[in-house]
Amino acid sequence: MAFKSNLKSELIASYINQTMIQESELQQQLREETAKLPNSNMQVSPDQGAFLSLLIKMTHARRAIEVGTFTGYSALCLATALPHDGQLICCDVSDEWTSIGKPYWKQADVDSKIDLRIAPAIETLDQLIEQGQAGQFDFAFIDADKPPYPDYYERCYTLLKHGGVIVLDNILMHIKDDAEDYDMDHFMHEFNMNVREDDRVDAMIVGVGGGMLLAWKK
Ligand SMILES: C[S@@+](CC[C@H](N)C(=O)[O-])C[C@H]1O[C@@H](n2cnc3c(N)ncnc32)[C@H](O)[C@@H]1O
Repeated sequence: MAFKSNLKSELIASYINQTMIQESELQQQLREETAKLPNSNMQVSPDQGAFLSLLIKMTHARRAIEVGTFTGYSALCLATALPHDGQLICCDVSDEWTSIGKPYWKQADVDSKIDLRIAPAIETLDQLIEQGQAGQFDFAFIDADKPPYPDYYERCYTLLKHGGVIVLDNILMHIKDDAEDYDMDHFMHEFNMNVREDDRVDAMIVGVGGGMLLAWKK
């Protein structure tokens, strides 16, 4: 079932990250501060940050949701790309990790666009739906704990306008470098197949970082 490719994914990622990324000084500083943490691999890579910024601009997004903020690097990329009157609702359970990003958000002058909600993301998303916010958002980035991805996806789908975009990270976590084939029993593969069959959206996976799934709400 595996398709052969002549392209070396690590070399491609390294080329893109070394040549195409134009991070702000603050983005670089926050990424480097986060890199000192033991779980620093949770933050998106610079190419993913740049890709998210580009998507925000290309979709003319004004209101966005982030599920999983960690130390705030992806939020900094998203909020910087949003217009002056834009809004980013960030969902995370960690005060400690998100506090690392706050001074950078302030220095970048995007703190007024960011509304951080410290609570399980399902609660925050349900609250938004209960408050009548369904169909009011342009963009959602999902990058928190992985097993509830279907629940995050469904709620973000509800919160998006038609024409809105959901981006999900780590969507290829079931594909291991040293494996001969894909793990078809992995929940992430099942999730991808369910999105493929979801005729409310058009969807595609792109191989940026650990693999990102893009779903466009029809
Ligand atoms: C992969 S990290 C996010 C990385 C971030 N997007 C970045 O690029 O820096 C996952 C985050 O999800 C948060 N998280 C885990 N479970 C959660 C839940 N049930 N609700 C909200 N956030 C959660 C963790 O605290 C962690 O900060």
